[in-house]
Amino acid sequence: MKRNNDFIPNAFDPLTGKTTWESPSNIALVKYWGKYGQQLPSNPSISFTLSHCKTITEVAFSPREKQGDGFSFDFLFEGKETPAFHPKIEAFFERILPYAPYIKDHHLAISSKNTFPHSSGIASSASGMSAMALGILSIEHLNNPMDEDSFYKKASFLARLGSGSAARSIQGPMMSWGKTAAFSGSSDDFASPFAETLHPVFTTYKDTILLIDQGQKKVSSTVGHNLMKNNPYAPARFEQAHTHMKQLKSILESGDVQAFIPLVESEALTLHALMMASQPAFILMHPNTLTVLNKVEEFRQDTGLHLCFTLDAGANVHLLYPQEEEQPIAHFIKTELAAFCQERQYIDDEVGTGAKKV
Ligand code: DP6
Repeated sequence: MKRNNDFIPNAFDPLTGKTTWESPSNIALVKYWGKYGQQLPSNPSISFTLSHCKTITEVAFSPREKQGDGFSFDFLFEGKETPAFHPKIEAFFERILPYAPYIKDHHLAISSKNTFPHSSGIASSASGMSAMALGILSIEHLNNPMDEDSFYKKASFLARLGSGSAARSIQGPMMSWGKTAAFSGSSDDFASPFAETLHPVFTTYKDTILLIDQGQKKVSSTVGHNLMKNNPYAPARFEQAHTHMKQLKSILESGDVQAFIPLVESEALTLHALMMASQPAFILMHPNTLTVLNKVEEFRQDTGLHLCFTLDAGANVHLLYPQEEEQPIAHFIKTELAAFCQERQYIDDEVGTGAKKV
C-alpha cells in the first residue's frame, strides 16, 4: 500500500496522560458510496457537521509494560467492557500504525459513550472513529505540538482510515472530502472545511432525524461500498457526484435554499437506487421511510416551505430545513411524521462546528 509520507511522525519516548474529545456525527448531502485502496473514496462528498449527536471518548495513555505483538488496549463503551468492538478497533490501529507508530509503545485505556442511543441506527462510526483519532493524535501533539490546521488535517486523515465518513466529522459547519475540480485543495486523503464562502443560512440549518427503524442494519456500509465495484451504474454515478459537488458549491455560496432541495433529495434517492441495483441487491428503506418522503413533498407543495429529506445507509430520514422555518416544520413533524417513527422517536439536531477537546 502506498504511504503518505506527510503524516509520518518522528519517534518519541512513550508518555503518560489522558485526553478527552467529543466529536459529532455528520450527514452527507453528496454521498460517499464506493471506495478503493485503503479507504479512498471513489467520488467526492460533502456533509453538514452535526451538533448534538456525538461521541465522547477518553484516551488514557501510559508506557506499555511488555512489548509484544499486537496492541495493548482496553475499551469501555458506555462504562462496559465490549469485546465485540475490539476487531474494528484493532483493524483501525493496524491501518493507522505507519502514521501513529507510537500506539505500539503505549497502553491505551479507551472509554467511549454516545449522546444518542446506540441502537438508533444513526451512524456512530463517523463520530466514534473521529473521536478516537483525535484522542490518539493528541499523544503525538503532546510530544510535538502541531499548528491547528496540521492537527485537524492529520486527525481527518487518521479518522478516514477508521471510517470514511469520519474524515468529515472533525470540523464544521460543512466538510468536503475527495478530490474534485470545483473544490481547490480537495483531497482523497482527508476532508477540509467549507467555510469562507458558505452563505449564513446554511450555518444554522436544522436536521431532525426521524428514527424509523432502530434495528441493526441488514447490510453494513462497508459491504455496500464494496458492491459498487461491480455495479453497472457506478461510472455514471461517480461522474454525477462531481457534477453535484460543483452545483451544490454555488448553491451553498448563494444561499439558494430552493435549488438545494432537488439536488439533496436526488443524492439520497440515488444512494438507495444504487443499493437496489447492486448484486446482490438490497433495500434499506422501510415502508414508513417512503410514507414520510411522500408526506414531505406534499407538505412542501401545501406550504412553500423549504423542508427536504436526505437518507444515510439505513431507514431513518434526516429532515433538513432553514432555522427560520423551524416553528411550522416542528409542528408538522410532531403531528404528522412522528407516527411513522419507531416509538414516535426523533432527534432534533442542527449544523455544528466540529469536534472539541473536553
Ligand atoms: C451512506 O463511512 O460508514 O453514510 O468507510 O466503510 O466506514 P466506511 O463507510 P461509512 O459510509 C458512509 C456512507 C453514507 C454516505 C456518506 O456518509 O457520505
